[in-house]
Amino acid sequence: MERIEITGGRTLAGRVRPACAKNSVLPLLAATLLCREPCTLCGVPDLADVQTSLQLLAAVGAAVERRGPDLCTAPRPVRGLVPDPLAAAMRASVFYLAPLLLRAGRVELPLPGGCRLGPRPIDIHLDGLAAMGATVQTLPDRVVVQRRGALHAVDYTLRLPSVGATLTLLMAAACARGFTTLRGAACEPEIADVAAFLNAAGARIAGAGTPVLTIRGVGGLLPGGARHTPLPDRIAAATYAAAVAAAGGQVTVEGCRPAYLGAFLQFLRRAGCRVEAGPDGFTVARDPDRPLQGGVDLRTGAWPGFATDTAPLAAAVLLGAEGASRIHDALFQNRFACAAGFAAMGARVRARGRDLWLAGSDRLQGTLVTAPDLRGGAALVIAGLFAEGSSTVLDPGHIRRGYADLPGELRQLGAACRPAPARAPQAVQYG
Ligand code: EPU
Repeated sequence: MERIEITGGRTLAGRVRPACAKNSVLPLLAATLLCREPCTLCGVPDLADVQTSLQLLAAVGAAVERRGPDLCTAPRPVRGLVPDPLAAAMRASVFYLAPLLLRAGRVELPLPGGCRLGPRPIDIHLDGLAAMGATVQTLPDRVVVQRRGALHAVDYTLRLPSVGATLTLLMAAACARGFTTLRGAACEPEIADVAAFLNAAGARIAGAGTPVLTIRGVGGLLPGGARHTPLPDRIAAATYAAAVAAAGGQVTVEGCRPAYLGAFLQFLRRAGCRVEAGPDGFTVARDPDRPLQGGVDLRTGAWPGFATDTAPLAAAVLLGAEGASRIHDALFQNRFACAAGFAAMGARVRARGRDLWLAGSDRLQGTLVTAPDLRGGAALVIAGLFAEGSSTVLDPGHIRRGYADLPGELRQLGAACRPAPARAPQAVQYG
């Protein structure tokens, strides 16, 4: 088991540049299967979920190789069978549903795993594909989806703006026959990024980034390929911003549009951080001797609302802020599993269902905690920067799913934070 060791109390300073967004890269890798010509994704970070995606692509017979920072694919016939351990390893295995259906005519997908944030059904993905003419068979542990001939165009309204389902239906519609309208679509920046890639490969998609997408399907695989640089990771950018807000200091996050994380930067301003945003980055500064202001009632929501992935990061910032706060996660039922780790550090927090209550003005004491999921793990690392003494975050592989080297990046900003080699597993008791 990997560990991250942190000694709290150091302020942060410097500049940092987020890597390409995990939540763009993962669907983009799946989308390369739709292209008749080779594709290159530029500057792809070496995340654990990227490695899992490469294994999945290899397992279905696709050709993909890493050339330095880039990932290059070449078209090849593929099998529509996703191996169980790879589907279980990440939620992003669901992005292979539409591409394998279109490439292979039949796809068998064990139910996808990923962070245990609560129930994560895939009914909208399946319902939308069925509306396009696919046959869907739902078994207890897997789904089997088949098609006869090309999928057909549809006027379809998503019952909620699911990011994943929007991407599945966007990919399917790009290769269907006829003119599709998707209503109630997710508007996250990663949707427009994937649409830009598909359009570069020959798709005809309009409206990406709005709730209504219109797609003129090409009636088969996309005629071209594309060379594409995925957009910067807005959640990683928010992580660095949260780190400096918790630890104090001044950090500039470069190569990232502040508008991508507008709600989070607004939250930091309200808490008392100085935030200066430019066209291509932002600076967050916080005097470590002046407490932040809490007393907020945050509610996550779909883009451009307060992103669910930033909720645990906001919680880490609010632990020491003056005034009691509450965060409600509208998307996932178990977003605040990190509360157990906060409490072990001495924070007065209570998580119930979708809600997290924080008393505020807490002084944390470093201790041994366990990362429960990706963003919750990052939040515990941030709490460790602010805690007195040493903290150890045991990480059974979550943080590396979304950050290639979070300890290294924080160390470059002056934090005392390093990964440590695995030790014999230790039981962690929370009081
Ligand atoms: N939902 C359904 N039915 C569906 C699809 C979704 O009920 O068919 C529900 C989910 O259960 C959830 C809500 O809709 O309550 C939103 O889910 P969504 O489909 O939007 O999320 P996702 O595609 O599973 C992606 C990111 C998440 C991020 C969410 C929201 C990937 C691989 N994951 O998940 O990122 O939190 O969008 O923005 O793109 C992470 O990076 O750690 C992460 C969890």
